[in-house]
Amino acid sequence: MSAPGKEESFNSAYWRNPRSFKFEDDPRWAAVDNYNWEHLHAAGSHPDPKLMDEILESSKSSGLPPIAVSPAHGKFLQLQARMIQARNIIEVGMLGGYSTVWLATSHPDAKVTSIEIDADFAALAKTHFQKAGVDKQIEVRVASAMDELPRIVQEVKDGKRPKIDMAFIDANKPNNLDYFNWCVEIARPGACIVVDNVVRMGGVVDEKRFEEPNIKGTRRLIDGVGKDKRVDATILQIVGGKNYDGFLTAVVR
Ligand code: DHB
Ligand code: MG
Repeated sequence: MSAPGKEESFNSAYWRNPRSFKFEDDPRWAAVDNYNWEHLHAAGSHPDPKLMDEILESSKSSGLPPIAVSPAHGKFLQLQARMIQARNIIEVGMLGGYSTVWLATSHPDAKVTSIEIDADFAALAKTHFQKAGVDKQIEVRVASAMDELPRIVQEVKDGKRPKIDMAFIDANKPNNLDYFNWCVEIARPGACIVVDNVVRMGGVVDEKRFEEPNIKGTRRLIDGVGKDKRVDATILQIVGGKNYDGFLTAVVR
């Protein structure tokens, strides 16, 4: 009824009647993601795009949920690690290790400590690390992050490991603020903390969804981060092959 006519731009048709537009699964988003991947991470790029696609394929055929970051956003994380010259990185929620490989390939001296609660996922991820030649850069901790992050905090306090330059949080959503707080505690000034899935198709501002545990956890995160004087943060909304979601990025003061 309100699709743009020939004379009308998409934007003006949208603003004339926003509610008539269904914003899920727009085919342009995946198409642009593919275009991006083919042109800006072509053969010869590091890591090998074919290998990265194989990791996603292997995760899929092993029955992992298809919720790894997209290639475009994996690469964005890698670029971000390079922008801040991150060497010590923590990942919360490893899944099949797809994002972990992106982070590890940011620099040959980058070290990634990744926490994964599922031992089968972790075992599969380790095969991916070997294939990508980054296994020596990655320390895998199979545990609940609610148990493991406090241990890592203690290790930093005891001088057994350095402070972190970057964290990527992409695990179960209800505990996001706890994960975030522990990461800030061990982050050096200027460190960057990225949290995945903070938009959830706009669910974070949809009252009908406020009681969903994932939405509740995400809103608790955003509320907590907003009041946290140790960090400055914003949300980047994202569309792509993984639909409509977003990253929260925080910089530690
Ligand atoms: C879900 C989790 C993710 O980390 C993600 O990127 C997408 C979806 C989920 O649990 O639904
Ligand atoms: Mg995610």
